[in-house]
Amino acid sequence: MPNLDIHASKEYTMMVEPGIMDRLGELVLRVANPKKVCLVSDTNVSELFAEKATRSLQKEGFDVNVLILAPGEGTKSMSSLNRILEFLAEHEYTRSDILVALGGGVIGDLTGFAAATYLRGIPFIQVPTTLLAAVDASIGGKTAINLKAGKNLAGAFWQPSLVLFDVDTVLELPEEQFKDGISEIIKSAVIGDAKLFDYLQTVENPKIIDFTMECVMGAVKVKRDLVAKDERDTGMRKLLNFGHTMGHAIELVSDYKISHGRAVAIGMLACAKAADKMGWSNRDCAIPIWQVIDKYGIDAKCPFDPHQLAAAALNDKKRSGDNISIVIPLEIGMGAIMDIPVHELEEFFRAGLE
Ligand SMILES: NC(=O)c1ccc[n+]([C@@H]2O[C@H](COP(=O)([O-])OP(=O)(O)OC[C@H]3O[C@@H](n4cnc5c(N)ncnc54)[C@H](O)[C@@H]3O)[C@@H](O)[C@H]2O)c1
Repeated sequence: MPNLDIHASKEYTMMVEPGIMDRLGELVLRVANPKKVCLVSDTNVSELFAEKATRSLQKEGFDVNVLILAPGEGTKSMSSLNRILEFLAEHEYTRSDILVALGGGVIGDLTGFAAATYLRGIPFIQVPTTLLAAVDASIGGKTAINLKAGKNLAGAFWQPSLVLFDVDTVLELPEEQFKDGISEIIKSAVIGDAKLFDYLQTVENPKIIDFTMECVMGAVKVKRDLVAKDERDTGMRKLLNFGHTMGHAIELVSDYKISHGRAVAIGMLACAKAADKMGWSNRDCAIPIWQVIDKYGIDAKCPFDPHQLAAAALNDKKRSGDNISIVIPLEIGMGAIMDIPVHELEEFFRAGLE
């Protein structure tokens, strides 16, 4: 079964395989030798998979503690971070013990940040259970919580020791969450893999497991290559923010009622449209992007106006001085980063949303 090696400040492997959760305990031993393992999850995910994961860990003799949090973006907060850190301290975790993030991007980002800060850093393993977390959030080492002013405003770069994606977990995923993952896969295809985009465009009635494996391998390769070149997000890695400047603003303005994936889809389409209109793209990208978004039933209508969104986006941490970085498609399979003056952002958003 396919493995992907990720080369960052730490080298690690992503294993993608149906049923691999049964081997969690055995695979932890390949990268660490802990006495204690703290499994962090949310109520939805723990109901489905915590028992299986715990059993596998206990089989290897680990002392397992399980911490279950509420589901949803609201959990990526200072109070949840505090809860994990106090829990670890109470149970006397040491630097050789380990955290396991079992869940979607919310649990992964939060648990990763707790791992980065507890005792100034302990190892952690990502076990993504959403398509979005498998293709994006679980690799690359960005960990974070949200602040009132915006998404991911406090966090750390902290790479996991291993990423295990049990492909069977997508069989439980509600349709809307599956679409959120497709959105990030479209993103990776547009900025870096024309063949993956072609697959998304042409595949008809695929078997869900085969489709997921194909998309995960393709999208993760795009991200892996960018992380290897620019782990700290100062250059090429910013390409992964395609659709995210507007997307994060939409999430914030909607009070997180619009999911990350749908917000990114709206953002990608708007950026592609604006770039086409301004003559910045080499080829018309908005139409094929719209066709793929539509094919997978993602609702890319934007309920907010450009003024509101630009104001929210200007709190974004990707802003540097008087400029803000936005990502545009030059053609399908090739993205570019552009710095535009902050006062032009609203006009750019307007061009994309008209
Ligand atoms: N660190 C990064 O590089 C990075 C990249 C992209 C996104 N993110 C972050 O990821 C988050 C979004 O992640 P997400 O979409 O996975 O959201 P999520 O973690 O909130 O999961 C979505 C919902 O699905 C449920 N769920 C998870 N797995 C399930 C399964 N197998 N079956 C049934 N239900 C399941 C969860 O309980 C939750 O209700 C955002 O906070 C975003 O900022 C981070």
